[in-house]
Amino acid sequence: MLSLSHLHKTYPGPAPRSILQDINLELSPGDYIAIVGDSGCGKSTLLNLIAGLDLPDSGSVKLHNREITGLDDNTRTRMRRRDIGFVFQAFLLLPYLTVLDNAALTLKLNGVTHREAQSKAYAELSAVGLTEAIHRFPGTLSGGESQRVAVARALAHEPKLVLADEPTGNLDADSADVVLRLLRERVKAQRSIGILVTHSSAAAATADRIYRLHHGALHAA
Ligand SMILES: Nc1ncnc2c1ncn2[C@@H]1O[C@H](COP(=O)(O)OP(=O)(O)OP(=O)(O)O)[C@@H](O)[C@H]1O
Ligand SMILES: [Mg+2]
Repeated sequence: MLSLSHLHKTYPGPAPRSILQDINLELSPGDYIAIVGDSGCGKSTLLNLIAGLDLPDSGSVKLHNREITGLDDNTRTRMRRRDIGFVFQAFLLLPYLTVLDNAALTLKLNGVTHREAQSKAYAELSAVGLTEAIHRFPGTLSGGESQRVAVARALAHEPKLVLADEPTGNLDADSADVVLRLLRERVKAQRSIGILVTHSSAAAATADRIYRLHHGALHAA
């Protein structure tokens, strides 16, 4: 169960801007939803709060009855590594690791053996059509290839919660279909919870339900 309750977020500064106002959402295992909304409306901000990468001004994020917002930094980091798979809008691949090592990274941080981590990472890279690229470094990849590595990395440790921030923004139609199908299949097969942020209505339509983020609030679309 993922439960967002009365989340508020304002970015401070000379002209503070309230980005999220009273966000409430409850999702159950197996739920796969899409969040759409204009550029700058706060979608990535919301995913960062859900993942515990940033903290709200008030309100809570609970994953399986654990309040992420109430944990100290180290516990939050450990929980994120174990329970959350995040496909970042800007990929955030590590430039000095090969594609295979990038995809295996979370597993290794979770204490999985080198051999098993590499084998699971290879399977994910194969699912997104990247077996040819496993020994290359991120700096040599195209945007779409980087994006698929980011997807493989987010799924390899079979997280309870998958947060995908515009995961098909750099992909051609066929690769986008592969990634969208994979995300949905995983959420359903593993009864995890999936949140897909996208500007594409075709991509959003692959989710069970669509929400629109507008003026700081989530509405069923
Ligand atoms: N660390 C920050 N400090 C101040 N303002 C920020 C910060 N991060 C984001 N913002 C601002 O908050 C607003 C929401 O940003 P966010 O990245 O969540 O939007 P988004 O909905 O993901 O947009 P996009 O569709 O373009 O990715 C934007 O106006 C952005 O400029
Ligand atoms: Mg964004």
